[in-house]
Amino acid sequence: MKTDAATCIAGAEDRRLGAWAPRKPTSPIVRAEGCELIAASGERYLDLTAGYGVCCLGYNHPAMVQALTAQARRLTYCPMNMPSEDRAAYVEALADVLPDSLDRVFLCNSGTEAVEGALKFAALVTGRSRTVALRNGFHGRTLGAQATMWNPAARKPYAGLLHDNVFVQPEVEALEAAVDRETAAVLLEPVQGEGGVGVLSDEVLLAARRACDRHGALLILDEVQTGFGRCGSWFAHRRTPGLEPDLMPLAKGIGGGFPLGAIAYGERVADALRPGCHGSTYGGNPLACAAGLAVIETMRALDLPARAAKVGARFLDSLRDRLAANPRVREVRGRGLMLGVALRQRAGRHLARLTSEHRILALPAGPNVIRMLPPLIVREEELERAAEALDAVLRAE
Ligand SMILES: Cc1ncc(COP(=O)(O)O)c(C=O)c1O
Repeated sequence: MKTDAATCIAGAEDRRLGAWAPRKPTSPIVRAEGCELIAASGERYLDLTAGYGVCCLGYNHPAMVQALTAQARRLTYCPMNMPSEDRAAYVEALADVLPDSLDRVFLCNSGTEAVEGALKFAALVTGRSRTVALRNGFHGRTLGAQATMWNPAARKPYAGLLHDNVFVQPEVEALEAAVDRETAAVLLEPVQGEGGVGVLSDEVLLAARRACDRHGALLILDEVQTGFGRCGSWFAHRRTPGLEPDLMPLAKGIGGGFPLGAIAYGERVADALRPGCHGSTYGGNPLACAAGLAVIETMRALDLPARAAKVGARFLDSLRDRLAANPRVREVRGRGLMLGVALRQRAGRHLARLTSEHRILALPAGPNVIRMLPPLIVREEELERAAEALDAVLRAE
């Protein structure tokens, strides 16, 4: 039996986490710098996932470290029923980057909570409960959000226990046919993340808006993964002229790696909310607000949404140049720094090789797609290294 510290830690983690124990390509991760995770053994992993898309400023960005440590010295928690200077400063900064029509926010702690709250709000506004969601959509793991998740295998253990929603192809006619007087909301991601980095067309997004308007339903644009610069603009849907959601769940990048979520909404929703209809003990806590403020200020200072658009377009071109002739590759697609390489075969073993042979982390998106969500501060040399490694892995026997 090995007794080094790293193995002991991993062993305890396995026992306690059971089915949730992580796969272990390495000794445990103990620290990080920039876009790299560093293991106890000293191995460095270039993380092209930004930790499931959360670490938009990379790991341990000095602005976040400074904000969190200063906040921890001053005030770590403020009851929600007391006014908080930190919360007020954060909400003000967030409002500045939100679309004008979404001028209210509810703060929470994660993406699934933000989606869950948005579904509740839509039910309150409309008095209806059915959601029209998209095939290949993903919105989180709480009961309401899970009932909108397309993946039938993930819904199967809960058969008969989840809300009875409607799933449609992301197509204009399908949306028009599915939305009716029983629909509370249409819920969709402007670019489907888990489902395979599928970029929805302007026509589909606008058709969803029209269908909602026709039947009095609400449009919920889930920007948990696509928002905060990831797709080359503050919010992915801003690239579709005339598209205005009623509700927009946010999380991941807005906290830069600190748990933080938000539901942005406008007047129509605000009118239906009453004290006590929703709440969160930790939502808007001072530490999360300090992290969120540091993210917004740094993103503004470095103009990261625009950088994601520019650097992402170059990375997409580079991947297409290198991989176009590879018979394993069906398509390279994406927007900004949310990219997918769709294969004609399963992605799992290629992802494993990318990690074990090149020390690069990427994510699956559905069975056949390799997904990359690098930190928005990623260096172009790092992306070139990744493109080269991907090319090598996809050529290997
Ligand atoms: C589009 C989208 N919505 C919601 C969620 C759920 O977020 P969380 O894991 O923070 O609950 C995710 C997570 O991957 C997501 O990608």
